[in-house]
Amino acid sequence: MPTQPDPLAILGLAYIEFYVSNARQAAHFYRTTLGLQPIAFAGLETGLRDRTSYILQSGDVRFMLTAPLLPDHPIAQRIARCGDGVKDVALRVADASAAYQAALKRGAVGVQEPQVYINEHGRFVRATIAAYGDTVHSLVEDSGNATFLPPGYRPLDATISVVPTGITRVDHVVANVELGAMERWVRFYHEILGFEQLVHFDDEAIATEYSALMSIVVQDGTGTIKLPINEPAQGRKKSQIAEFLDYYGGPGVQHIALATDDICATVDAMRAAGITFINVPANYYDDLEARVGTIAENRAALQARSILVDRDEEGYLLQIFSQPMQDRPTLFIEVIQRRGSRGFGKGNFKALFESIEREQAKRGNL
Ligand code: FE2
Repeated sequence: MPTQPDPLAILGLAYIEFYVSNARQAAHFYRTTLGLQPIAFAGLETGLRDRTSYILQSGDVRFMLTAPLLPDHPIAQRIARCGDGVKDVALRVADASAAYQAALKRGAVGVQEPQVYINEHGRFVRATIAAYGDTVHSLVEDSGNATFLPPGYRPLDATISVVPTGITRVDHVVANVELGAMERWVRFYHEILGFEQLVHFDDEAIATEYSALMSIVVQDGTGTIKLPINEPAQGRKKSQIAEFLDYYGGPGVQHIALATDDICATVDAMRAAGITFINVPANYYDDLEARVGTIAENRAALQARSILVDRDEEGYLLQIFSQPMQDRPTLFIEVIQRRGSRGFGKGNFKALFESIEREQAKRGNL
């Protein structure tokens, strides 16, 4: 007898929804800084009475920016606590109703029962389960039409000019959870969503003089979705994870890594648009070749941009991290270019975290 496919087999990332205090301005910010094209709008003019929302897209990267219109709205209360940040890491599945029922049977907490919408473009079904903090995963069925707009949205003319930055897809989405909660969330992804544990970084690997963290990476069966989960470890001073938890009011998405095929061009475009990246001490580059061997990129070009390099058995990767994307020291972005490596830059952790701590010290939080 043929085995039934797992209803929770993940087909890909549908979108990432942010709750923001002002969607119109957030859409402007993410359009100009990341080169995302606004493709759809929902709000009073489209019949939504309580919210405004924009969908922006570049390649396979799809952000949804949603703001409350009324003071007592639950989104407004969430923003009062967390500030702007990621609410929903929405996953594409073949059958959202079956996936939702299977998830509940395996112990997931339901947030929204399946809702079915049918229009001339096809069928759209969405159900939602709870994840870490008050982050959720919507399970989205879009009939294979990834450009299908959720109900209530109307397309925007592509007349607004966008300077592309070259980002192609979301490489990974990282969660920060409370001390002692990491293993529980690894079990959640394993038992409910069928994810496998990819790598485990302990506090030995990720310790600086002041702070430490532990991290486990889980991914879905096809390797399409990679979700590292961090928890703080004991350090001499407050870890960057603890700082995040304080300012976000609990667990949430710490960073979104965006893939590019030309990291220097992407970083230049983002910098010109106003993104500031974390600087790396000049001595990081002194022994670069000794650490990572021969690379195709010019060392001076990487150093000029503070781009980090790491190598493992499979190849190498280039990466860089932004400053926080909003006032609170919470969500930031990473730009990553993979040249064979499927890792996360373990060799850079120490140098990187020392740089992050210098920024944390400037905020008076170290
Ligand atoms: Fe990352």
